[in-house]
Amino acid sequence: MATYRIAPSILSADFARLGEEVRHVIDAGADWIHFDVMDNHYVPNLTFGPMVCQALRKHSVKADGTRVPIDVHLMVQPVDALATAFAKSGADIVTFHPDASTHVDRTLQLIKAEGIQAGLVFNPATPVDVLEWVIDKVDVVLLMSVNPGFGGQSFIDSTLRKAEQVRKIIDASGRDIRLEVDGGIKVDNIRRVADAGADTFVAGSAIFGQPDYKAVIDAMRAQLAG
Ligand code: DX5
Ligand code: ZN
Repeated sequence: MATYRIAPSILSADFARLGEEVRHVIDAGADWIHFDVMDNHYVPNLTFGPMVCQALRKHSVKADGTRVPIDVHLMVQPVDALATAFAKSGADIVTFHPDASTHVDRTLQLIKAEGIQAGLVFNPATPVDVLEWVIDKVDVVLLMSVNPGFGGQSFIDSTLRKAEQVRKIIDASGRDIRLEVDGGIKVDNIRRVADAGADTFVAGSAIFGQPDYKAVIDAMRAQLAG
């Protein structure tokens, strides 16, 4: 059985208390911290940069001393300078949209050269063909199940078919690649997303929109175990 990971998106956290929110959601059982970087160019919204990532890194430690990976989702164009900057600012994983990069293979190499994990993100209407050519350099495939830019949108069902397609590609590669899905994931649909082949689940509003983060994460895990 897959080892499932739940990655709360701090896009829906209280930005005035980010460090506290990260610690709180880690105590509630977060496996990764999903960090949405928006540039008001590739997407119509603006969030935070490498300095905020650096400041949060010291908050990404569990009570037992182990660190929770910071999963940086770049919704920016151009990509390369920021990908490197985030790698140097405490990111453990950097994913980017191939349609935002002029040279996808080069961007992947830049990230890997920093000694961290690299991934590609596909929008709901973007085909995944490029994976065929760079699968050996990819550690994460992130499928958007909403159009990027905002939290709190509804899950787009065609993502399930795309997840099935990518699951086959990953399995055929024989590589250890995470299949992450991002957007509109809730307790009541996470099981369907897992059944389509995903093993890592981003959830923003579903977790931060409730007072008890642990109750939501526990309910998601119960769905995944069922
Ligand atoms: C959207 C972001 C998502 C978003 C998910 O552009 O990439 O990570 O925060 O939020 P929810 O779970 O509320 O759809
Ligand atoms: Zn995201």
